[in-house]
Amino acid sequence: MKQDWVSRFSDNVKDFEGYSIGKLFKMMDDDPEIISLAGGLPSPEMFTTDEIRLASKRNLTDNAEKIMQYSPTRGEKTLIEAVIQFLEKDNVRVSEENVVITSSGQQGLDLTGRLFLNPGDAIIIDRPTFAGAIVAFQMERPEFVGVTMEQDGSNIDGFKEKIEGLKRQNRKPKFIYVVPDFQNPTGITMSLKKREALLELSYQYDIPIIEDSPYRHLRYYGETTPSIFSLDQEMGGSNVIGLYTFSKLFCPGMRVGFNIGPKDVIELMTNIKEGSVLTTPKYNQDMCTAFLTEMDTEPYFKKCRAYYREKLQLFLDTMADHFPDGDGFSWTQPEGGLFLWVTVPEKIDTLQLFHEAIKFKVAFVPGNAFFAENHEKNHMRINFSYPSKEQLTEAVKRLSVCIQDHGRVK
Ligand SMILES: Cc1ncc(COP(=O)(O)O)c(C=O)c1O
Repeated sequence: MKQDWVSRFSDNVKDFEGYSIGKLFKMMDDDPEIISLAGGLPSPEMFTTDEIRLASKRNLTDNAEKIMQYSPTRGEKTLIEAVIQFLEKDNVRVSEENVVITSSGQQGLDLTGRLFLNPGDAIIIDRPTFAGAIVAFQMERPEFVGVTMEQDGSNIDGFKEKIEGLKRQNRKPKFIYVVPDFQNPTGITMSLKKREALLELSYQYDIPIIEDSPYRHLRYYGETTPSIFSLDQEMGGSNVIGLYTFSKLFCPGMRVGFNIGPKDVIELMTNIKEGSVLTTPKYNQDMCTAFLTEMDTEPYFKKCRAYYREKLQLFLDTMADHFPDGDGFSWTQPEGGLFLWVTVPEKIDTLQLFHEAIKFKVAFVPGNAFFAENHEKNHMRINFSYPSKEQLTEAVKRLSVCIQDHGRVK
């Protein structure tokens, strides 16, 4: 009998398209001449390969049987302890019961969505926001309530208006999701004033905040702003859940991250994790522990910051020299992270432009992927961390020519 599988897909996933960016990446795989400004990849030049080879060899020699065994769902005790110490340097004070190791930041988001969301629940997000968060939360079919970002981060007054609007319908959002440090995709950082205002809003309406912060240590200009989690702790609150990943701290290949929050939240997240991946591979966790405890991380982060700062500055300078300016063209000036956000005149659909850019051997991510609703089509997310400096300047030139050509053809 021929089974009609499609008719059996669950309501949660039957219209689920997954990560649209992933499909674009596949298009580039076949052509090595394409310079990709699309991925969110750290530079391999910044990978700490020598140290990790040593730690790996020692671990495999001394610990092979343990590595080959199951390990605790919550995470390896040694890693949790290392994470606690690491967070302390950032004024975040948590104990073991407040931490669950995740199989990367993406799982951290998935656990959050599964823990809190019923179909139809409202969640407050930025416009644009991280596409991976949209994909993770979409599984639970929430209602995304978005507010356009401002130069200094989320539009807190806009959030308040949306919350009031929901209140008039006797509804309350389940949480507010933000990426306050060098946001993916815009590179924008939330000011201290806004972090405080966001917390106040969270207290006033009793709505938790999900703070997703993979890029916090990658600041190239300006002063560090306290995390929302630490501000909440200072106020004696417990309104914030922090999502972290080793992907940009150390390397994405390990697929290790951690969520922090109140004990009850972490306990249930751990139970959900049990039902999905059971455990995060011990070997990968041990490599992350070695990274945090055996490497001198501060000089390492300093090196990364200097390296990426140069690339960002070169990229911005080349944009200023070559890219069309004014008349609807603009781009953000990030102080850190891996991305910047380019806006083009509304008449240009960047998904269409992407296909033309491929012919000019350059790629970016069309901005529509970063909107959960009312997709805007005239933006591009640009990554400056992965390509070499020569490739970065060449990519900007190719993109500029492509856009001019697009204008001529239209
Ligand atoms: C804001 C944000 N959150 C979470 C993640 C997930 O990262 P990973 O799954 O690699 O840990 C990313 C990755 O780019 C990100 O930009």
